[in-house]
Amino acid sequence: MKLFSLITGLTLLGSSLAIPYEEYILAPKSRTLHPVSVHSTNGSVSNPESLTTASSSNGSSIFSGDAATAYDFGINIAGIVTLTVGSVSSPDEYIGVTFSESSLWVSNKSSDAIADAGKDEILWFHVTGPGRYTAPREKERGGFRYMSLVHNSTGSVEVEAVEVHYTAMPHWGEDAIGNYSGYFHCDDELLNRIWYAGAYTNQICTIDPHYGNALIHIFKINSSVSDAVNVTWYNNYTITNGSSAIVDGAKRDRIVWAGDMAIAVPGVVVSTNDVVSIENSLNSLFDVQNSSSGLLPYAGRPFPSATSFTYHLYTLIGVSDHYLYTGDIGYLASLWDKWKLALTFPLSHIDETGLMNVTSPSDWLRFGMGGHNIEANSILYYTINQGIALAEALNDTAPISEWKETAQRIKTAANALLWNNELGMYTDNETTTLMPQDGNSWAAVANLTLNSSQISSISEKLQGRWTPYGAPALEAADAISPFISGFELQTHFLAANASAALDLMRLQWGFMLDDPRMTNSTFIEGYSSTGELHYAPYLNDARISHAHGWATGPTSSLTFYVAGIQLLSAGGKTWRVAPALGDLTNVDAGFSTSLGFFSATTTITKGVVEVEFEAPSGTSGEVRVPILNCVGRVVLQEVDGKCEDVTVEVVQADSAHVVVAGLAGGRWKATFTCVE
Ligand SMILES: *[C@@H]1O[C@H](CO)[C@@H](O)[C@H](O)[C@H]1NC(C)=O
Ligand SMILES: *[C@@H]1O[C@H](CO)[C@@H](O)[C@H](O)[C@H]1NC(C)=O
Ligand SMILES: *[C@@H]1O[C@H](CO)[C@@H](O)[C@H](O)[C@H]1NC(C)=O
Ligand SMILES: *[C@@H]1O[C@H](CO)[C@@H](O)[C@H](O)[C@H]1NC(C)=O
Ligand SMILES: *[C@@H]1O[C@H](CO)[C@@H](O)[C@H](O)[C@H]1NC(C)=O
Ligand SMILES: *[C@@H]1O[C@H](CO)[C@@H](O)[C@H](O)[C@H]1NC(C)=O
Ligand SMILES: *[C@@H]1O[C@H](CO)[C@@H](O)[C@H](O)[C@H]1NC(C)=O
Ligand SMILES: *[C@@H]1O[C@H](CO)[C@@H](O)[C@H](O)[C@H]1NC(C)=O
Ligand SMILES: *[C@@H]1O[C@H](CO)[C@@H](O)[C@H](O)[C@H]1NC(C)=O
Ligand SMILES: *[C@@H]1O[C@H](CO)[C@@H](O)[C@H](O)[C@H]1NC(C)=O
Ligand SMILES: *[C@@H]1O[C@H](CO)[C@@H](O)[C@H](O)[C@H]1NC(C)=O
Ligand SMILES: *[C@@H]1O[C@H](CO)[C@@H](O)[C@H](O)[C@H]1NC(C)=O
Repeated sequence: MKLFSLITGLTLLGSSLAIPYEEYILAPKSRTLHPVSVHSTNGSVSNPESLTTASSSNGSSIFSGDAATAYDFGINIAGIVTLTVGSVSSPDEYIGVTFSESSLWVSNKSSDAIADAGKDEILWFHVTGPGRYTAPREKERGGFRYMSLVHNSTGSVEVEAVEVHYTAMPHWGEDAIGNYSGYFHCDDELLNRIWYAGAYTNQICTIDPHYGNALIHIFKINSSVSDAVNVTWYNNYTITNGSSAIVDGAKRDRIVWAGDMAIAVPGVVVSTNDVVSIENSLNSLFDVQNSSSGLLPYAGRPFPSATSFTYHLYTLIGVSDHYLYTGDIGYLASLWDKWKLALTFPLSHIDETGLMNVTSPSDWLRFGMGGHNIEANSILYYTINQGIALAEALNDTAPISEWKETAQRIKTAANALLWNNELGMYTDNETTTLMPQDGNSWAAVANLTLNSSQISSISEKLQGRWTPYGAPALEAADAISPFISGFELQTHFLAANASAALDLMRLQWGFMLDDPRMTNSTFIEGYSSTGELHYAPYLNDARISHAHGWATGPTSSLTFYVAGIQLLSAGGKTWRVAPALGDLTNVDAGFSTSLGFFSATTTITKGVVEVEFEAPSGTSGEVRVPILNCVGRVVLQEVDGKCEDVTVEVVQADSAHVVVAGLAGGRWKATFTCVE
């Protein structure tokens, strides 16, 4: 690595471009949606195709006797159904509607499930004559790709049209649901689709907060009623203030979970930059903070009160992420006293070893969370370091020295007690040989490791565990957790192994997109390492959410690590451009924060690497130009030619990149050329 510093007084205004690659955006172009095709039909149904957009004629479909048609919307959607009925044989006819995210649960008897048992009841419309029949608002369904119409009596009903009013992203205009502020493109189509499916997953998980899950069956129904196909459901609980909120999942739980936000929020920032939904969700957690202990909830209302050490910390990380991505010091200052009070809770559980002793098992539904757990202690170490940066930004220096000491003790103790040098990974705690995916990934992400060879070792060992379906989380009985795998992706990038990260995206997220049981548009919350759609923590497979923001790790990782646009402080006041292309040859990404537009385009051709990048005026940063395995030279030019070119000779062939620091915001182009 070479370091070269350039000080320049010149800056440029950021350019504002139309967002390219719009053809990849999955968000609907209108809030009124129609099925795109027929999935299946049974019994006497005339002309079922007439209700799809594929139909050229506007005919109707007549259901006679016991009959049903299942429709496919092509992607996962959310909303309120309306049927337009023509003639009916009697004023006592019924049309039922069922929903499913996965093709697995398409049925004429029930929907997929929200509760941990059974299947959800049919939404029945009593059809008394011609007209439009719209579901009550609490019967909006938050995630479904398939919708079936069912007729159950001896007469007949003519259905002239079926439509769904799309309800996700409620605060964005009818024709602007796909109004992205960020984009990504590279020379691998699968990765492009993965980036946009992640962006869309976070959009469908952004809901009107008056229609969260009422959780009416929580802890009440279980596997003893697992065959019931009539489980009641409605979405009408107010979960946050404001008019939009980011929740864990589209179908379920439709409530706020801080852990999920740790992956979802950076994905939102690089695609839609929908900050207000993030704030409404974060605020709802602080609203119910315990004012004496500082404890924050495991999940937002109406989830019953529970203690989770990790989710408590994730809420604090949510505040530091908000500051990093927005630079909004006022918002930070408004929560700072609550933040400091909250930190006293985990600090009070640090014992004489220097590690936090976790006394409540609640986490991301992994098993065995307790004691001197490596994941929880890594997250605590990370949180304290975030706190130090926030305290510095706020000039609140009083707590800093004690926090630094505490963090150092955690790091020393974790490495002494939990690092297994022989196996090259951390154990879950000191009484087990289990080496978890979550704790090892988090140790790398948090920089709990003492040196880079530990990160390389963790990266290599995690990669060695992959099954044909992805990266297993041994701490959850071999589940594949797209949430924790999002932190594993970051681990591979931190180990300077971009190829491993890209391979895992293709393997795991490629499966999650292309398998016919999936929605081809949103990412599932979990499944088995054998590829079955069974998620170890749940008894009920139909309950699994197929649109979970915590599964969108590749979206931010592709932008931050592959395109390499990294915000280092306060909305991008300082930044780094550090492309890591792995086996790709070109990558192009950009996004906006309140400070302006950031972008980086890298292309690698034989003997030449070109990085063009842009950052808003008034910011400063550095570029790490990737170089090829040869001697040569890097030339850095300011695009409008106001600064002098910088040339760095690379005289050894073994470096990975050249760093040029001290750059002002503006538009730059760096070129590395091999010299024969
Ligand atoms: C026929 O279908 C088209 C396309 O969906 C729609 O614009 C039009 O309003 C429909 N016409 C009638 C009479 O329903
Ligand atoms: C209902 O679905 C079952 C398959 O689960 C199928 O055998 C049956 O024909 C369907 N009945 C109607 C009326 O659609
Ligand atoms: C129709 O029956 C088939 C075969 O039994 C079944 O797979 C499908 O889900 C049914 N569709 C509807 C709408 O009932
Ligand atoms: C059809 O379903 C509705 C709603 O559950 C029910 O009230 C009605 O009795 C059913 N009709 C027949 C013929 O089963
Ligand atoms: C799209 O978003 C930008 C901000 O990123 C906003 O200025 C613009 O009004 C939005 N366009 C529409 C049609 O909502
Ligand atoms: C639901 O189905 C179960 C049988 O599976 C039945 O015992 C119960 O009465 C049904 N409940 C309602 C509200 O229809
Ligand atoms: C939600 O809807 C159900 C069913 O209509 C109703 O019983 C309940 O009171 C509603 N809850 C709220 C909070 O509005
Ligand atoms: C230590 O880790 C193992 C493996 O995850 C787990 O079974 C055990 O319960 C943990 N110990 C404590 C005290 O939580
Ligand atoms: C953690 O605290 C619990 C409850 O006080 C105690 O039973 C347990 O022994 C402690 N675990 C460790 C590893 O010190
Ligand atoms: C912190 O102090 C610096 C230097 O005095 C000042 O520029 C900055 O505005 C202060 N920040 C806050 C949040 O008070
Ligand atoms: C990680 O921690 C080491 C000390 O263990 C420190 O030297 C290094 O600067 C840290 N890295 C980052 C990115 O903070
Ligand atoms: C999945 O979606 C992509 C667009 O995102 C489309 O090109 C492809 O045909 C779809 N695949 C299937 C199997 O429907």
